[in-house]
Amino acid sequence: MQASQFFDLQWSDFIVHAPSAEGIHSLLGAGETIVNDHIALRSFATPQLGLDALHPLFAGLGFAMGDEYRFRAKKLRARYYQHTAAGIPKVFVSELLLDECSEQLRGTVLKLCERVPADATLDPGFLASGRHWDISFEVYRGLLQESEYAAWLAAHGFRANHFTVDVNALSGFGSVAAVNRALTAAGYLLNTSGGEIKGSPAVLLEQSSTLADRVEVEFSDGVQTVPGCFYEFARRYPQADGTLYQGFVEANADRIFESTNALAG
Ligand code: NI
Repeated sequence: MQASQFFDLQWSDFIVHAPSAEGIHSLLGAGETIVNDHIALRSFATPQLGLDALHPLFAGLGFAMGDEYRFRAKKLRARYYQHTAAGIPKVFVSELLLDECSEQLRGTVLKLCERVPADATLDPGFLASGRHWDISFEVYRGLLQESEYAAWLAAHGFRANHFTVDVNALSGFGSVAAVNRALTAAGYLLNTSGGEIKGSPAVLLEQSSTLADRVEVEFSDGVQTVPGCFYEFARRYPQADGTLYQGFVEANADRIFESTNALAG
């Protein structure tokens, strides 16, 4: 699979779980193509599904590994991948460190993970394959009490959690603040955790995001409406050598994760 096919697959899945995405494209692009900075993926840190297990999949698509990040309170580890060819979005991928979670959460999650076929991650399409298990709304709510991340991943499975508009590439908007104003005026709800804009020129990265669209999910005991996926907006600033910073900022990302919180906003 080529990286472009990988992103096409991710996008067609994403717009089902973030129905606002197409309207946001029209609003910000005004007919021009939107460039995406990165997508974000979530996983569980098991030998089969964790970051190290997924590495060959990204390497096979032509990505090289960038820096790693740690989110202690959320019990997450993350890294990003950048493609060796120019003009291809980056991938920010994280994993929930099950060893740091309660025995109960770990037991629930490991049982779900057992449903994933052993060789599933050999196919790059796996990361847009969704959920491989049945789960009741009661179990979802149990997970939610301990980890919003675990509950989201258990409900939605493997798919892009968000896409990210590259604000530097927008011709109609010069700043994240201007993007936020347009979104708010059009009625989109922004993630306000830590302020509408996370980061600053000083850390070389400014980001904002919508709150996740609420979508219907089929649980084993009925359909429920829960937070789905969202859109992020990122503006990058030049480093000392003049090139734009391509990494991430832990403090920003920590707040962006909260865009899927059931009670956010
Ligand atoms: Ni992001």
